[in-house]
Amino acid sequence: MKLTPEQLAQFDRDGYLFFPGLFTPKETKVLNDAVPALYARREAYNVRERGSDAVRTNFAAHLYSEPFARLARHPRMIEPVEELFGEKLYMHQFKINGKMAFEGDVWQWHQDYGTWLNDDLMPTERAMNVAIFLDDVNQFNGPLMFIPGSHKKGVVDAKHDVSTTSYPLWTVGNDLIRELVERAGGKNGGLVSPQGPAGSMILFHSCLLHASTSNLSPWNRVSVYLSLCAVSNHVRRFKRPEYIAHRDFTAIECLPDDCLLADYPVDLPWKDGMPASALVTSEATLKEAA
Ligand code: SIN
Ligand code: MN
Repeated sequence: MKLTPEQLAQFDRDGYLFFPGLFTPKETKVLNDAVPALYARREAYNVRERGSDAVRTNFAAHLYSEPFARLARHPRMIEPVEELFGEKLYMHQFKINGKMAFEGDVWQWHQDYGTWLNDDLMPTERAMNVAIFLDDVNQFNGPLMFIPGSHKKGVVDAKHDVSTTSYPLWTVGNDLIRELVERAGGKNGGLVSPQGPAGSMILFHSCLLHASTSNLSPWNRVSVYLSLCAVSNHVRRFKRPEYIAHRDFTAIECLPDDCLLADYPVDLPWKDGMPASALVTSEATLKEAA
């Protein structure tokens, strides 16, 4: 999938691109059908909401689930980012966020690159999120909110919040958010919230400020996030476990466009469980970064 000159200009200006209904209902169903069995597993890679059994986020399914392994090599998700960076990519993080009906908790204001820099020592912002909706996303089930153009600020100050939700995050203070929303147009476009049917895709810059509210609706809002990093920009520290921040910097090779519906073979290295090494963490910095 090639981006048009208009899309490239829009990405540069706004920091995100939205592709409503890019994947068909048949393709989305293959992924959605696999989620309940993954969420039911009692494994470290399923992070549950505080005080609840609902899964907030599932990590690394592309290493143990066939449909998600295929999604992780899907040209509609990978190729636009390769084009933007002019380089091959590796999978830095892969998550299936639940935001389940009635139980899905907030994601505070943050930039993803803040966490990738502070925790993983990723050298630059040459990494990108590509999200696909597995459920319809509407104003009620906790859609993502963006401040358009906020990626132009680069990395902003953040604090490590380990108490608001069940998942630690480097979050940005309200005063700066107020200022950036105002600068982006205040009530006239200072906040946007891409909404659409299951199968829609969002591509967003790693410095774009984003958040989402809780889901008090009766509708799940399951979405998959591929965090794709330029191979040359790989992380330099393994402070977080491998199931959260990956350490295999091998370039992703795409499958054909029909890969969600056809039976292409994929490698599932964690099919029989996570290796013990995936839980080992280290404060040491990789030598080549020095
Ligand atoms: C994230 O920012 O990583 C997740 C936000 C969301 O799923 O609403
Ligand atoms: Mn994020």
